[in-house]
Amino acid sequence: MTVAVEVHSITKTYSVGSNTVRAVDDVSFSVMSGEFVALVGPSGSGKTTMLAILAGLLQPSSGEVIIGGVSLTSLRESERTRFRRSKIGFAFQANNLVSYLTALENVELMLRLNGDYDTAGRRRARDLLVRLGLDDRMNSLPRQLSGGQQQRVAIARSLINHPTLVLADEPTASLDTERAHQVVHTLADLVHDQDRAGIIVTHDLRMVEYADRIVQMVDGRIARIVSPSDDLTCLADPEADSCTEIPPEVLGIEGTDPWEAGRNDH
Ligand SMILES: Nc1ncnc2c1ncn2[C@@H]1O[C@H](COP(=O)(O)OP(=O)(O)OP(=O)(O)O)[C@@H](O)[C@H]1O
Ligand SMILES: [Mg+2]
Repeated sequence: MTVAVEVHSITKTYSVGSNTVRAVDDVSFSVMSGEFVALVGPSGSGKTTMLAILAGLLQPSSGEVIIGGVSLTSLRESERTRFRRSKIGFAFQANNLVSYLTALENVELMLRLNGDYDTAGRRRARDLLVRLGLDDRMNSLPRQLSGGQQQRVAIARSLINHPTLVLADEPTASLDTERAHQVVHTLADLVHDQDRAGIIVTHDLRMVEYADRIVQMVDGRIARIVSPSDDLTCLADPEADSCTEIPPEVLGIEGTDPWEAGRNDH
């Protein structure tokens, strides 16, 4: 396994009137290729902001993101757009499917944009849709699909170009429990099988079982990094008295590497 994503001291501040909001506050972590990470935390803790920075859609106020050895945050905007198209796949809550293209065409569009529209690519698009349970919906337009089906098309689209990094913000938000498990499980399998780095934001703590590590943000900072086999009580209730103490390894004191926190050998 190689390091796919390095996040170095990322801070993002917004000015709101005379106040400064620190949406992301000095966050560092890394993700290996083949590793699936769940980013959790209360509403407003900075998860979407962090994901947008990782996607190259938002520039941080300070800090650096390196993806596959390339400093995303140092690229010029045009270079960043090109890099994003080929190396980063993302499925955000507003899934931005093209309304007049079918599910299959929406996925294939990414092949065209990347100059990769060939027989192998088209087969990959079909295979991904099948794997996400959309065999009988390939020729449907987005408005003919449920919210959850649209999200699955967006996930297929995010994976089509062999991205180094796959990002999804609340991919299960409009799914029933069974479908949510299926989608996250499939996404985890695809990340593992295809050696991508995957990060999903989720409110649903039942989904963290599929993650290799869980990064919890509270107030813009990393509160803890754990693995699903650890005690997860503090994920549900980070404000509980017994949970307020941030583990020293996360802060990188006592000589441990914060990037290795929560990472088990398996
Ligand atoms: N464009 C903006 N201008 C000002 N403040 C912003 C902006 N975007 C986000 N924020 C603030 O930054 C903080 C983090 O927001 P963010 O959307 O990253 O949270 P989140 O963890 O994704 O929350 P949720 O779980 O509700 O989606 C919030 O306090 C939010 O109000
Ligand atoms: Mg959010």
